[in-house]
Amino acid sequence: MDTYSVIPIRFTLNGDKVSIEAGAHETALTVIRERLSLKGTKEGCGMGECGACTILVDGKSVNACLMAAPQLEGRTVMTVEGLGREGKLHPLQEAFLEHHGVQCGFCTPGLLMSAQSLILETPRPTHKQVVEAISGNLCRCTGYQQIVDAIQYGADKTGGEE
Ligand code: FES
Ligand code: FES
Repeated sequence: MDTYSVIPIRFTLNGDKVSIEAGAHETALTVIRERLSLKGTKEGCGMGECGACTILVDGKSVNACLMAAPQLEGRTVMTVEGLGREGKLHPLQEAFLEHHGVQCGFCTPGLLMSAQSLILETPRPTHKQVVEAISGNLCRCTGYQQIVDAIQYGADKTGGEE
């Protein structure tokens, strides 16, 4: 199969079944942002260093810019659009607002997804666990303390809610 083959992919995205054809050379980020128009997942570095593109794949945080689109086959994916519900923010999102964890907001979707991955595994994370969980997410604005506080507060509010 050559590098530019088109491959049918079926996966679950934010609770909906998705069926799409993607090039073997495409990334999950391209499919999600450009092909499926979910712009909440950001493209920063494009090389696995900033965390802006973080999504959940089967509940684990993944850099979508490093994941080949065909690897989405059969997986359950959540982007930031799947975190809240219509008209209701997820407790983590509320916590980011309440604790001033958002300034320009570019890093926020990725941070939320890293935080959600952590909380799914560890509903009451320690400060150290939060810091480790977001160590791959760069923020140029906040200094991180508000973000860490927001995640711990959001974890208390969710108790592991999906
Ligand atoms: S855009 Fe994926 S890690 Fe930076
Ligand atoms: S809030 Fe601006 S990069 Fe994090």
